[in-house]
Amino acid sequence: MLLLSREQILSIFTMRDAIEADKKAFVLHTEGRAKVPLRINLDTEDKSGQCMFMPAYVGGLNMAGIKIVSFFPGNAAKSIPVVPATVALIDGTTGLVTAIVEGTTLTQLRTAAIAGAATELLSNPDSKIAALFGTGGQASAQLEALMTVRSLKEVRIFDVDPERVRKFVMSNQSLADRFGTTLVEAKNSDQAVDGADVITTVTTSSKPVFDGNRIKPGCHINGIGSYTPAMREIPADILQRAGRIFVDNREAVLAEAGDFIIPMGEGIFSPDKIAGELGELILGRVTGRTSADEITVMKTVGFATLDVVTAAAIVEKARAAGVGTEVAL
Ligand SMILES: NC(=O)c1ccc[n+]([C@@H]2O[C@H](COP(=O)([O-])OP(=O)(O)OC[C@H]3O[C@@H](n4cnc5c(N)ncnc54)[C@H](O)[C@@H]3O)[C@@H](O)[C@H]2O)c1
Repeated sequence: MLLLSREQILSIFTMRDAIEADKKAFVLHTEGRAKVPLRINLDTEDKSGQCMFMPAYVGGLNMAGIKIVSFFPGNAAKSIPVVPATVALIDGTTGLVTAIVEGTTLTQLRTAAIAGAATELLSNPDSKIAALFGTGGQASAQLEALMTVRSLKEVRIFDVDPERVRKFVMSNQSLADRFGTTLVEAKNSDQAVDGADVITTVTTSSKPVFDGNRIKPGCHINGIGSYTPAMREIPADILQRAGRIFVDNREAVLAEAGDFIIPMGEGIFSPDKIAGELGELILGRVTGRTSADEITVMKTVGFATLDVVTAAAIVEKARAAGVGTEVAL
């Protein structure tokens, strides 16, 4: 069994690798080759923590896997991760666990790669200005994904906490320098989105994070954060204005994302407006952007197929490079 730490993953697996792995996962999902049961959530007796189990079997790879993610808010005071995650990969021929991969890094990569893939497929190729909403655990990888797929001159960073914006810009300066991109601390959401060609929202917000009226024609928007019916980031008027709306997993998004569920309840959005899943776009079953002025939207809530396919890709590269620690149980 191969064990892979954060450092080992990052030494062999790039954002481009993650984007290609996600594209493969989207296709396998759309082709109906992945089985993804509902997530199992277990609360601890004293309710101080929750353990979540996200399994999937992916035909095509003939691999199963499970991501174990926990949420223990009290860990912050102990200086250990509040949301620790681990992915176990299982060989579909023998049933043996073949690898255990550090799951926080994997989640950051595969989640950012969703926006990376969508931005590559849907945004205008000459996009120069991006805005990133949220500066939490996922944000740095999201920034890297945007800069990987488009030659960005400027990325505006906005968070409701200006101190977090300042720290984020400082700690991501060298990453941005590698891509020749300037990071700008946005003072408010208007300043972040005015004239932006691409927007990624990766927040824990329960209300729209920007004013839809300010979005310029041709903008592409990635909605990453909301994953419950009460959470939302994308304003409803943008869903109405958008020419093409894509999702990672139609069923999951319509069951979980407040971005769609709230306006559906208000009668101002219909699922018919969804052009398709990203997998359908990659397979050429539906068309993507149809004009440079069209607003495009990608909404994701994430699903375990992405974790299993990305873990398999990481393990393949690690084995080829002789990276990781082999253990026999
Ligand atoms: N789609 C997926 O597959 C996927 C995967 C992982 C995480 N997520 C979700 O992405 C979101 C962000 O994850 P994280 O780990 O970075 O969270 P985090 O808690 O570390 O950071 C969230 C950030 O959002 C900021 N924020 C809240 N409301 C805002 C607003 N209105 N405008 C600007 N900033 C605002 C907060 O101040 C904070 O800095 C979470 O909701 C998480 O569940 C989605």
